[in-house]
Amino acid sequence: MDKKTLALKAVEAKKVSLPAYSSFHVGAAILTEDGKVYSGGNIETSSYSLTICAERTALFKAISEGERKFKAIAIASDAPEFCPPCGACRQVMYDLCGDIDIIMINHKEELKTLKLSEMLPFPFGDNELK
Ligand code: THU
Repeated sequence: MDKKTLALKAVEAKKVSLPAYSSFHVGAAILTEDGKVYSGGNIETSSYSLTICAERTALFKAISEGERKFKAIAIASDAPEFCPPCGACRQVMYDLCGDIDIIMINHKEELKTLKLSEMLPFPFGDNELK
């Protein structure tokens, strides 16, 4: 699957987001190594800190369906510019996905792709627990 197709699935996933308090819609679509896509949106609750970002919604859906190997994740938001994943999501992706491509799409449908390792240098992970 090409990057644009995956990114447009992230745009589509904004429709199922539930940003009840911020009204900031985010969608994400994650691509598995064997070509499947899982998507999701951000979900907010009245206890604000229990919010889950779109990236983790999509990733946890995939993990809970048994997926373990990923290639890329695409992210779309209501902001005109590219929406980079938050720090918490970077850590979760580092632990569960490895060094995948992070594909961001802006309102003009332009793409920007970075490796997770470029976004989260010198990470904490499994190795530190040994
Ligand atoms: N959000 C995401 O879903 N992904 C990001 O990459 C950045 C932020 C959500 C969390 C919250 O629901 C809203 O955007 C505003 O921070």
